[in-house]
Amino acid sequence: MKIDILTIFPEMFQGFLTTSIIKRAVEKNFVDIKIHDIRKYSKDPHKKVDDYGYGGGRGMVLMPQPIFDAVDDLKDKNTKVILMTPQGKTYKQNIAYDLSKEKHLILICGHYEGFDERIRILADIEISIGDYVLTGGELASMVITDSIVRLIDGVIEKESHLNDSFNNNLLDYPVYTKPVDFRGMKVPDVLLSGHHANIKKYREQEAIKKTQTRRPDLLETGDKNG
Ligand code: ADE
Repeated sequence: MKIDILTIFPEMFQGFLTTSIIKRAVEKNFVDIKIHDIRKYSKDPHKKVDDYGYGGGRGMVLMPQPIFDAVDDLKDKNTKVILMTPQGKTYKQNIAYDLSKEKHLILICGHYEGFDERIRILADIEISIGDYVLTGGELASMVITDSIVRLIDGVIEKESHLNDSFNNNLLDYPVYTKPVDFRGMKVPDVLLSGHHANIKKYREQEAIKKTQTRRPDLLETGDKNG
């Protein structure tokens, strides 16, 4: 899979791309992630990418020209273009699953007070990562990239994400590691029993219990994406 991210703050991605699972996925060629500075595509002599909004009242607005040119340059017939915006569809695990099967994604990060409305026409999907407003789409694009990359076959053990929270409308079951007794809090006996069928049953029950107390909405709506 290939992911191209369009941003005016490429430096924000440095730590993200050089750490942990994302770093390994890139090194092992499971994914090719490229960060593109939108300024590079500006036709303005001073490489301007934003200007005052018509009608006044708002701050700087991202101009369409550099973003249209960047998408024209990077897009092919297999590309899905995603626009980061708090006005988009709320991001959920089922969208991550769908996107992890795509061949090529372009993620456009908006910034400052917004982007020119005409940029919307470029997007196949507009995504919001939640009902709050960030200073820009960069963090949102990292959230989306991270959640997609870990689902690509081979990046992490399948077992690790088969039990993820939100699969089957359930939160994940609790897990424990050493020591067996920590400050009087004990690991449940069943997990030490070596009895696989009982462990499986315990985990299913705990996942249901956890979902009932923390996220009953997942059980009520049957909403696959939680
Ligand atoms: N840009 C600013 N806020 C955002 C959000 N909540 N989701 C996606 N992009 C954004």
